[in-house]
Amino acid sequence: MKVIIASDHAGYKQKERLKKYLERRKIEYEDLGTDSLESVDYPDYAIKVAKKVAKNRKEDYRGILVCGTGTGMTIAANKVKGIRAVAAYDSYSARMSRIDNNTNVLGLRGRFFPYEKAKKIVSVWLNTPFSEKKRHRKRLKKISDYEEDR
Ligand code: RB5
Repeated sequence: MKVIIASDHAGYKQKERLKKYLERRKIEYEDLGTDSLESVDYPDYAIKVAKKVAKNRKEDYRGILVCGTGTGMTIAANKVKGIRAVAAYDSYSARMSRIDNNTNVLGLRGRFFPYEKAKKIVSVWLNTPFSEKKRHRKRLKKISDYEEDR
């Protein structure tokens, strides 16, 4: 597994703290920016990360995207073929998004969201496997079939 991480200005501080967590846990990661609190546009970062994750999904690349709410990053990432992104605000949604939906991108809140909570969400999301259950595979195939037909 390799984590590709990025944020906009609103998620920058949270991203920097989460990078330290990944380092402590010896999880390989690549930071695609942003590098300061200067205002930037979240789609630029979301699409860059999502493309890299989609391209390397057989190697289990995962994306972590932080913006003010997690919403914009998640919307943009989900436009990239092969991406299943979740905006998770708690451990339950993070866990279930792995078990049922095999998500490969995690959208997180940077604003008004405690680091401890974000860290817990990341930990649960990285450590929960997809259930591999037939009914979930079938449902995910409907999404990828739709992507193919577009
Ligand atoms: C930036 O102000 C903010 O809109 C962005 O970080 C994010 O929350 C968008 O969904």
